[in-house]
Amino acid sequence: MKTIEVNLRERSYPIYIGDNLYKEIDHIPIFKNIGQKWVIISHHIIMEIIGNKIGSLLRSSGFDCENIIVPEGDAAKNTVEYSKIISQLVKFGCDRKSVILALGGGVIGDIAGFVASSFMRGIKYYQIPTTLLSMVDSSIGGKTGLNIPEGKNLIGSFYQPAGVLIDPKALKTLPFDEVHAGISEIIKYGAIQDKIFLNNIDDWLNDINSFPFLEAILKSCKIKSKIISKDEHENDLRKILNFGHTIGHALEAYFGFEKIRHGEAVAHGMICASWISKETGNLTDREYQKLCKIIKKVPLPNIREFDPDRLMGYIKLDKKNEVGDFCFILLNQLGNAIVEQNISEKLIIKSFEKLK
Ligand code: GLY
Repeated sequence: MKTIEVNLRERSYPIYIGDNLYKEIDHIPIFKNIGQKWVIISHHIIMEIIGNKIGSLLRSSGFDCENIIVPEGDAAKNTVEYSKIISQLVKFGCDRKSVILALGGGVIGDIAGFVASSFMRGIKYYQIPTTLLSMVDSSIGGKTGLNIPEGKNLIGSFYQPAGVLIDPKALKTLPFDEVHAGISEIIKYGAIQDKIFLNNIDDWLNDINSFPFLEAILKSCKIKSKIISKDEHENDLRKILNFGHTIGHALEAYFGFEKIRHGEAVAHGMICASWISKETGNLTDREYQKLCKIIKKVPLPNIREFDPDRLMGYIKLDKKNEVGDFCFILLNQLGNAIVEQNISEKLIIKSFEKLK
């Protein structure tokens, strides 16, 4: 088992990464059982695949463990489900010493994290991500959130977990497409912070079936934890983690989650953002072509038919918290990202041609 430390002074925590980690979950060094309630929050498919085994293992080692099942997908991330979870915690007799185990992908991590940050003014929680996306991104850094009809993640907090437990072997239980879509977030880390890592990913993608997930997850978590340690609240450096996400989020909103996965939308978004990087004189054509070639090694859905003005509409909505021009994360070379404040609407719309 490898350990990476997220250094945040009194809020520091370890990320444990190891194949078959879930089978030893009752022996995780930071799990201190003092007879308190341990509550797994997950959805029924994950419970069937892995959650029930984790619960049994904990119970047989003397943990007082309960489960809370939430709906699958974004349907779990709202105030109604939030209230239901809080009521369940009260029913179980949870108190300030209780511990939440957020077992699932980004949605579970977001709602369970928000519950942990607010139940009795904050209790301990651990992230146990089960998708590639959540293993390399959302489980680290303490972003929690709920959606309301007015928008996504409009309720939320920065609330760091007490630890993150990653078992790359769990990816074997996911459909191929789901795992492949998550590779774009790994490419993102190479593109924004580490050219050598990007070159390794390029090589690894020549045979996607033998992609070294453990190694790639380990490196991605190292890069993310370093960024979080420097800028926990996204005042500055942490913004670069959103490379490819401005257009990516707009594509998700436009096409819907059935047509395009988050990772696929980010892949398309990175192609557009690197084209904008080239047009603004930050990236050479050679570097732009190289990054596109790497991104396209993972199959992407065809999104040729769309209305550019409507797509731009979603970007404008996403921009509601920004003052002035469009803020974009660009590359000034492969392995180095910058935050650019003055990107014109015209250039953004022109970049959509790269989606076709
Ligand atoms: N997913 C981007 C971040 O954690 O800041």
